[in-house]
Amino acid sequence: MYSKPKLAFKYIHYLLTAHNGKGHGMHSPFVFELIQNILNDKKHYEEYEKVENLRKNLLADNAIIQVEDFGAGSSVTKSNSRTISSIAKNAAKSKKIGQLLFRMVKYYQPKHIVELGTSLGITSSYLALANPDAVMTTMEGAEEIAKRAKRHFEKLNIAHIELVKGNFDDTLESVIQQFPTIDFSFIDGNHRQKPTERYFQSLLEKTNNNSVMIFDDIHWSSEMEAAWNNIKNHPSVRCSIDLFFIGMVFFRQEFKEKQHFVIRF
Ligand SMILES: C[S@@+](CC[C@H](N)C(=O)[O-])C[C@H]1O[C@@H](n2cnc3c(N)ncnc32)[C@H](O)[C@@H]1O
Repeated sequence: MYSKPKLAFKYIHYLLTAHNGKGHGMHSPFVFELIQNILNDKKHYEEYEKVENLRKNLLADNAIIQVEDFGAGSSVTKSNSRTISSIAKNAAKSKKIGQLLFRMVKYYQPKHIVELGTSLGITSSYLALANPDAVMTTMEGAEEIAKRAKRHFEKLNIAHIELVKGNFDDTLESVIQQFPTIDFSFIDGNHRQKPTERYFQSLLEKTNNNSVMIFDDIHWSSEMEAAWNNIKNHPSVRCSIDLFFIGMVFFRQEFKEKQHFVIRF
């Protein structure tokens, strides 16, 4: 993981050099529409409150659970005992990103959604609530965290989500085989280069023209930056959007030439 000053420097560079995020001068109609209708959609959706109430409760929960360390995301603490509040604070995506992912799913209405890295289920809830007709699988290795996440889905009455427990290395292939296609995936666990590239390759088997893949923390470390570069340069990726904290890739054939965008968000 990069040091805090280095990350801050990178973030400032991003803010100064990214496309303005308002759509002005954007020549791609697809990306223009995404900026106007998703990035800049300021409407309030009632589902936001449900998920943010869950987050609020978890941030106040000092219960301690045992957590197995699976990925590279455990730099905050190496201890196996963690409070629910610290997991909610450090692992879950922010409200801003969670709600953006909600709007992505609401807008594109993907039928089959896969999330790698459930944690307590905050972002999973956003994704699932955005399309009640979707079939969603979320994957988590840490046993006690997974148990908690399941409870949270029940509490929010989310029935169309399946949580698959286990190391992605053992579970991803069979999850992928269950789906005819994967329309939307969020890769938010094990932030290392080779595993991230492996997950991309596996998910690629089931992508279609409209699929979206979203990678978390693409500038978090040199390994993640290397993975992001290789993914966005992969021949099957036609368009990529870098929002600094997450990166999106699209496979749409309408992009005759590969296009990369960095957009302020
Ligand atoms: C950053 S958290 C996910 C946060 C969640 N997406 C959210 O925004 O609310 C990453 C999770 O992935 C899990 N994880 C990391 N590497 C894994 C692996 N190889 N197999 C299974 N789970 C893994 C960790 O246990 C952790 O709970």
